[in-house]
Amino acid sequence: MDLQLRGRRAIVTGGSKGLGAAIAKELLAEGAAVAFCARHREEVEAAARELCQGGGKVMAEVADVTKADQVEGFFAHAVAELGGLDVLVNNAGRAHPGTFATLTDADFQADLEVKLFSQIRCSRAALPHLRAAGGGSIININAIYGRQPDPSFFATTVDRAACLAFNKALAMEVAREGILVNSVNIGFVRTPQWSNIHQRRAPQLSEEDFLAQTAAAEVPLGRFGEAEEVSGLVAFLASSRASYITGASIDVSGGMGRYV
Ligand SMILES: NC(=O)c1ccc[n+]([C@@H]2O[C@H](COP(=O)([O-])OP(=O)(O)OC[C@H]3O[C@@H](n4cnc5c(N)ncnc54)[C@H](OP(=O)(O)O)[C@@H]3O)[C@@H](O)[C@H]2O)c1
Repeated sequence: MDLQLRGRRAIVTGGSKGLGAAIAKELLAEGAAVAFCARHREEVEAAARELCQGGGKVMAEVADVTKADQVEGFFAHAVAELGGLDVLVNNAGRAHPGTFATLTDADFQADLEVKLFSQIRCSRAALPHLRAAGGGSIININAIYGRQPDPSFFATTVDRAACLAFNKALAMEVAREGILVNSVNIGFVRTPQWSNIHQRRAPQLSEEDFLAQTAAAEVPLGRFGEAEEVSGLVAFLASSRASYITGASIDVSGGMGRYV
């Protein structure tokens, strides 16, 4: 299927590793020009070097999506470099496991900043450019816990539910302007985020054993997903082949998500 992404211009937040890096790579392979940001300079530069090897236009900058001035600066530089904007992938985020008993108000505030307010802030920065392009696409990377509450990921559960409401309401508000807004809800996908969770929860196990046990208990397909099993859907949603899909919330979760 030709996704007709050649010539499209995309921003991916949190593109230095994990899902964001796989999404940036997939969009580039489909012919799009890609700008990405993350906080750690060395990782940003290493990821940019690796992405450039596949050919295509890559722009990378250090920026923290929880800081309004850094988001404004990154979007201004990225749009100037790409010559406009057609696609925003709101991917930057983190896992912060914990129950209501263990998480503080400060933990909840920080989680809201990186999950919900980053999507609000980056969408606000992107919209004028998507309008100028005559339309475009915003894809929000969220979690199935926004639909299936899990008290052991309490902040994620609460904040991702808000992200899903944001996704739907924004889709409705900008639909008549030809701007599509969709959510991709992740279950368990193997990324550096899970190395951190492994270290916190079960450092006595090997990472392979920890992931295998976690998947066996919770994932109907019985295994973790790979980042490349997410990036194809994101590229599809960014493409004109998804032109009648907006306000959708699509799980990539190996069957996780106990709801209909
Ligand atoms: N993997 C899963 O199973 C899973 C499940 C549910 C939801 N998700 C969501 O999917 C998204 C990607 O997760 P991942 O697993 O790929 O995580 P990851 O491996 O930890 O990668 C996260 C990326 O986001 C960047 N980032 C984090 N905080 C940032 C900030 N404040 N400003 C700018 N960039 C930031 C990181 O770089 P720096 O640290 O250098 O900033 C990195 O590039 C996240 O929103 C996550 O919550 C993942």
